[in-house]
Amino acid sequence: MAQARAHPNIALVKYWGKAPGSDNKPASPSISLTIDELETVTRVSAAKKETIRLNGKLVQDKKISNFLRLFDEAFGTGPLNIESSNNFPTGSGLASSASGFAALVTALNETFELGLDLPERSIWARRGSGSAARSMCSGIATLEEVSGDWQAREISAPSRWPLSVVVAITTEDRKSVSSSVGMERSRSTSPFYKAWIANATKEFDTCKAAIKNKDFQQLGMITESSCLQMHAVMMSSYPALIYWNEVTVNCIRAVREMRSQGLDVFFSIDAGPQIKAICLPEGSSKVESLLRNVKGVKRTINCGLGLGAHTVTND
Ligand code: DP6
Repeated sequence: MAQARAHPNIALVKYWGKAPGSDNKPASPSISLTIDELETVTRVSAAKKETIRLNGKLVQDKKISNFLRLFDEAFGTGPLNIESSNNFPTGSGLASSASGFAALVTALNETFELGLDLPERSIWARRGSGSAARSMCSGIATLEEVSGDWQAREISAPSRWPLSVVVAITTEDRKSVSSSVGMERSRSTSPFYKAWIANATKEFDTCKAAIKNKDFQQLGMITESSCLQMHAVMMSSYPALIYWNEVTVNCIRAVREMRSQGLDVFFSIDAGPQIKAICLPEGSSKVESLLRNVKGVKRTINCGLGLGAHTVTND
């Protein structure tokens, strides 16, 4: 038996669309920040029959079961008992599938002493959920095509350029359309989808340069642009994917207002209504207290950059 911990990540250049084929390869490269504070802890052990417990509750999860079948075909791991807990709301746009699959692959690698290296672990995590590949890495990571396969790479350690992410929770409800279903809907119906994918590679390069130069303004511009383009693709899909609520919009306005008052901060939003405000550590308490006062915000969590998925000693 082994246990692993992983943190969610927030994409700066978003992944929203898959390449043709069945191996869950993205259609475009992405970049993200792995955050601390929020975490998934997953235990894996051999069992007579597969059981999956999420936050203490027995569940049937097709995405996890399909992944375990693939893993079993590759490594002969047999039926397993999986116990996974999140210290944050599951399935509500806080990247629980990213931390979930990253922790699962790390625990599987340890349980069966497979000796998979970081690129291999990230490829396996990606097969479970695209964004999970990036949660294998600490700090800032890319998910890009390297030697013919899509894998994650750490491009900036947490100590090289410490950034803060203030998460504002606007609702703890689960999202109604999963990312996989949403991406397919966007691919097949949004008139903007092709342009979005074509533009992502350009933005990926600009974002990498901003990180290399520690250029906060440039990073903020690219991140908000990638986020809003992705939501434009979502909203122009049919039926429209509208992941925001009115509190999300209140928070966008609040972040823009903070910026006009001279605070270094920008926002990002994933497939859910939560806001992630990215700022410099010295400004994070101020950003947090301002976001906490936005009408409708339930609570805030002030995060730094976190570590990639790692094993933890069993209790
Ligand atoms: C909006 O990684 O959850 O968070 O590969 O289908 O599991 P699947 O999708 P997933 O999609 C993440 C979408 C996003 C943007 C991002 O994290 O890049």
